[in-house]
Amino acid sequence: MKPGHSLMKHYLQFKDLRAEEYSYLFDRARIIKTRFKNYERYQPLADRTLAMIFEKASTRTRVSFEAGMYQMGGSVVHLTTGDSHLGRSEPVEDTARVISRMVDIVMIRTYEQAKLAAFAAHSRVPVINGLTNEYHPCQILADIFTFIEHRGSIQGKVVAWVGDGNNMANTWLQAAEILGFTVHVSTPGGYEVDPQLAGISRRDCYKVFKSPLEACRGADLVTTDVWTSMGFEAENSARQKAFADWCVDAEMMAAARPEALFMHCLPAHRGEEVSAEVIDGPQSVVWDEAENRLHAQKALMEYLLLGRIG
Ligand code: CP
Ligand code: NVA
Repeated sequence: MKPGHSLMKHYLQFKDLRAEEYSYLFDRARIIKTRFKNYERYQPLADRTLAMIFEKASTRTRVSFEAGMYQMGGSVVHLTTGDSHLGRSEPVEDTARVISRMVDIVMIRTYEQAKLAAFAAHSRVPVINGLTNEYHPCQILADIFTFIEHRGSIQGKVVAWVGDGNNMANTWLQAAEILGFTVHVSTPGGYEVDPQLAGISRRDCYKVFKSPLEACRGADLVTTDVWTSMGFEAENSARQKAFADWCVDAEMMAAARPEALFMHCLPAHRGEEVSAEVIDGPQSVVWDEAENRLHAQKALMEYLLLGRIG
């Protein structure tokens, strides 16, 4: 991809793509997944290189991007703060200029969204958000693909968000605005979502509930996340107290629609944000959700590098 290429897109927030682009991506993810399950070789990214930069820990994001790129015929360079100049004195803009002359696409997991945006502004190649303090778009891409696989279109549906008003919650709000569904948000006081930080312009894509049980009432999907996200570890003991009533349990799932699904981006803490009965129960699709990171991100990388196929 050449610098300033009019078709070059970054994926820094969920709202970087439009509804019809998502509909294309969900179709591609389904096709790519089916081929993969049938052991069909599909290597459209031969000779392409992905650089993955991790400033926070990861299991799913690392494995799904790395395996995905190799499966599509490309290769991967993995960098962390400890083994590069990233955590030292080199400005992020210079790192972006250098890395993006050597690879075809970059995925970054970091702290502030502003750092990711600064990297992207100086990159010659597409940049993907692999999680920041503010957003986790690749996860919601996979989550909605998973919902569609199990239940069809998410348009008009209700998603209950129980827990922290964090990067996942913000991204769900962006997705609701773009794809036309509603998020019922219940967080403890002091951990609310902020529509400005979430980056949404309409207030009718979400409703706030004091009670997590009420947020789950009538929901098509119930979802939660850790009480303490990466980077917020110093707040852990205060959060353990504040979030004690925000554990998704069987009573909350019973308040949701009978066919409601449960999702969690993982890693999960059974007995904290979700009971073992729920995450290991029949409504939980967390393993499909984790697997779908692979297929959804392969579709995303294909789209960012090659545009539409066919
Ligand atoms: N859900 C998710 O992003 O997992 P990792 O932190 O393991 O990448
Ligand atoms: N909100 C969590 C998600 C982990 C995948 C975090 O940022 O740590």
